[in-house]
Amino acid sequence: MRITSPSNDISHVLFTEKQIAARVEALGMDLTAEYRDKKPVMVCVLKGASFFYIDLCRQMDCAIDMDFISVSSYGTGSKSSGVVRLVKDLDTDITGRHVILVEDIIDSGLTLSYLREFFGSRKPASIKTISFLDKTARHASDLKTDYCGFEIPDEFVVGYGLDYANYYRNLAYIGVLKPEVYQ
Ligand code: IMP
Ligand code: MG
Repeated sequence: MRITSPSNDISHVLFTEKQIAARVEALGMDLTAEYRDKKPVMVCVLKGASFFYIDLCRQMDCAIDMDFISVSSYGTGSKSSGVVRLVKDLDTDITGRHVILVEDIIDSGLTLSYLREFFGSRKPASIKTISFLDKTARHASDLKTDYCGFEIPDEFVVGYGLDYANYYRNLAYIGVLKPEVYQ
């Protein structure tokens, strides 16, 4: 592994802290309008969605229930293993509830379709997904999330919760990782 420091490993910034904050505020308003009287269960998909989830929940002006799940689909590499494993389940019974799955990024779409199916089978009143980022070129168009922060090109990004080998989640911006770091 050749992780050294952000100044060495990041080729450029895709979204600044300010741009992220503005987008998250707008998404919070959209969700507030749709879920105002529905007391939704907001589900954070750990660990990647953590920063987005917390900021988004703070921008929602309605009663929400917060819960966390953990899935493993990537190991420590930059390519999907194709296998999704639920590591930590919900604490909340979502039967009859309005559920919002909060994801960090849609790549192959495998994780998203697995989670939709898995939690959809528990008979929620509704289930929608929101992803901070979406690599639209990497998956079929019918895998679209209901809400999305930004559509991005097919590049490996880190920051704002997104990692490479568990590093760089802490960056306040979204940066493109230099290919030589993971190739
Ligand atoms: P999918 O199942 O292929 O859609 O992969 C989704 C998961 O892959 C995300 O939740 C991330 O953990 C990881 N992932 C995909 N692309 C990136 C990236 O560019 N940076 C960091 N993680 C990524
Ligand atoms: Mg990850």
